[in-house]
Amino acid sequence: MIRGKSKVDAAPATTLFLFGAHGDLVKRLLMPALYNLRRDGLVDNGLHIVGVDHNEVSDADFAAKLKNFIIEQAKIKGSEDEDQIIDPALWEKLTKRISYITGDFTDPATYKAVEERIAKTGTGNAMFYLATSPRFFSEVTERLGEAGLLKETPEAFRRVVIEKPFGSDLATAQALNACLLGVMKETQIYRIDHYLGKETVQNILISRFSNGIFEAFWNNHYIDHVQITAAETVGVETRGSFYDSTGALRDMVPNHLFQLLAMVAMEPPAAFGADAVRGEKAKVVGAIRPYSKADALKNSVRAQYTSGEGGKPGYREEPKVDPESKTETYVALKVLIDNWRWVGVPFYLRTGKRLSHRDTEIAICFKQAPYAQFRDTEIDRLKPNYLKIGIQPNEGMWFDLQAKRPGPALIMENVELGFAYKDFFQMTPSTGYETLLYDCMTGDQTLFQRADNIENGWRAVQPFLDAWKEGGSVATYAAGEEGPEEADELLARDGRSWQPLG
Ligand code: BG6
Repeated sequence: MIRGKSKVDAAPATTLFLFGAHGDLVKRLLMPALYNLRRDGLVDNGLHIVGVDHNEVSDADFAAKLKNFIIEQAKIKGSEDEDQIIDPALWEKLTKRISYITGDFTDPATYKAVEERIAKTGTGNAMFYLATSPRFFSEVTERLGEAGLLKETPEAFRRVVIEKPFGSDLATAQALNACLLGVMKETQIYRIDHYLGKETVQNILISRFSNGIFEAFWNNHYIDHVQITAAETVGVETRGSFYDSTGALRDMVPNHLFQLLAMVAMEPPAAFGADAVRGEKAKVVGAIRPYSKADALKNSVRAQYTSGEGGKPGYREEPKVDPESKTETYVALKVLIDNWRWVGVPFYLRTGKRLSHRDTEIAICFKQAPYAQFRDTEIDRLKPNYLKIGIQPNEGMWFDLQAKRPGPALIMENVELGFAYKDFFQMTPSTGYETLLYDCMTGDQTLFQRADNIENGWRAVQPFLDAWKEGGSVATYAAGEEGPEEADELLARDGRSWQPLG
């Protein structure tokens, strides 16, 4: 996190190895982010980028490919002029330090070449970014360890960045952690959850802990319930085979949605350092009540999209998806946090693909005013107050209040106090990975998941995975709708309803 410093220094010289250099992640996010860091002076000539993958490409062709990635992504976002997207002088400097290693991730010769490349760049510091398929996470790390490439000295760091999915359940996540911790220290491991790279997610901590007013009502005396939504309009796109064996629960809940829950529900950390922040997050996710299988079924809804308006295909018609698939593309959960602050306050979580709106938002619903003193106003006509924290695409915070509509009659109306990022800040284009890459190079682990953060997340979703394996049904919703009726019933049972999407 680029913390309250008036000036932020360029990261120390680093050789960054991109394992899986031809993959989607490098193309869509890592390369544009690295370029943005260079543009903003947060990395300088000390950065060497080395692609590692099995395809044969020359250094020059690899550099040209990376340049095209940046241009392509910027054009998708609406930029036109290539010289505006990439400053030719800057690219000239960057390109001199881009190189490539053709190698198989399972071949010791690849790691020998990595060692030689570190010697050649002369930086000593090395960052190994595993932008590979998850099946290589253990293998690459073990081989880096065997080759002695993870040994640090006081002058040179060695860090490994691991993407998600980190395991597919509690047991596999524990096994992966054991493997990583068998070859290096926790301080060398950077487990990415890209939600933590989002400004609006980082801002939850700042809003809560740098404004004195919130703490007074941030508890079960005043908060009725919390809704956390990550709604997407896209379907599974080209990721059918990955998604079909993963599903919405594994894909979004133990990682992204629990990050949001932790930011809202954690206790104030003693300091804004990695240990204190991650310790509090681990505690609160660890306090999520472990359900029995019966309770897990009762408190969850899973659903799959069918074909919808505008000829959108159903999930089972998507490429590389089993036509009989029972994989969920939507999940809604009610979870409870067993600690003093939150006992009795349900957290309702929902996420899904092909929904009516793209909308990631946290809605904190406050308890109703206890008594309606106003003439002819019944308590059940007073609306509860909501604090809405917009993560994307609406970035900001909004407070719903009741106000008197001007005029002789006493009529209440819902009004909004709001803060939208776009009204206050000029944002330079960014992918969200800039901060994460910068933090990794500067050795700040605050925005990365520690082993216990990951395992507590999986521990909390394991009862749902276990219960679904044995029973329960998969509901449906038409592509383009707000979700299945069953998800509305989950809240209606408690006398509550979801905030509309969008
Ligand atoms: C990824 C999931 O981790 O997050 C995707 O694998 C999902 O399925 C994506 O679409 C959502 O990220 P964002 O930043 O668009 O909310």
